[in-house]
Amino acid sequence: MDDWIDYYDSTHTIYASKLHRDLHFQVIARDIVGYIPSPDAVVLDYSCGEALSAAKVAEACMTLILAEPAPGVRGRLIARFAPNTKIRVRSLDELRNMQEASIDLVVMNSVAQYMNEAEFDTALTIIRRLLKPSGKFVLGDVLRPDVGMARDVLALLMFAARNGFLKDALVGLVATALSDYRQMRSKVGLQRYSEADILARLTKARLSAVRAPKNIGYNRWRMTFVARPAPGTP
Ligand SMILES: C[S@@+](CC[C@H](N)C(=O)[O-])C[C@H]1O[C@@H](n2cnc3c(N)ncnc32)[C@H](O)[C@@H]1O
Repeated sequence: MDDWIDYYDSTHTIYASKLHRDLHFQVIARDIVGYIPSPDAVVLDYSCGEALSAAKVAEACMTLILAEPAPGVRGRLIARFAPNTKIRVRSLDELRNMQEASIDLVVMNSVAQYMNEAEFDTALTIIRRLLKPSGKFVLGDVLRPDVGMARDVLALLMFAARNGFLKDALVGLVATALSDYRQMRSKVGLQRYSEADILARLTKARLSAVRAPKNIGYNRWRMTFVARPAPGTP
């Protein structure tokens, strides 16, 4: 396994149980819906993963584009959402050829940590090109340099306790500690950014951003940013 895309394409143990996985995607979908500006919006979920609740997001907009780099995950998305005429599945490469200024809302949640800095900057350039002048980019679940893995564990356990899967979460944490995830985390690592660093990168990509009061999902120690095309830039 060479990178995080391979990891997410494998049979990983990142979700402790079916209930955890289902609840995870329900919470993300709920939070994405909260950012949809109108029912006729075109929405792009950048590196959406399994996106199990994407139908909920699609209900709240006109078109939902699910972009995912992992080929196995993408195959499942195509099969799962084939009957849903509002949902289109794309690779990240295909985004480069989409029409510029065609998207109202781009969401990239829990992805920046898996990219190296150059990949992240390239993704921002692609997203900036796709955004309508009135569009919005929501960058969620960004890891901070001053917050370590213990808070990730605590956030998961608190979410699990609230939703009745604490035992599964504890077993899952042990499985994860013994799994490829642990190896990937020490071999490839996770990218962390301070608030100032993210804001500087977004500014460089001609996006003007603020940090949102609340993170997408259930980990309150991670950060979400809401960005718009900077005024006066093409
Ligand atoms: C934790 S999942 C997040 C999925 C979804 N956005 C969510 O919030 O549940 C991480 C996603 O990032 C993708 N990913 C991993 N490495 C990447 C990279 N270098 N560039 C773009 N996407 C990547 C994976 O394929 C996976 O879909």
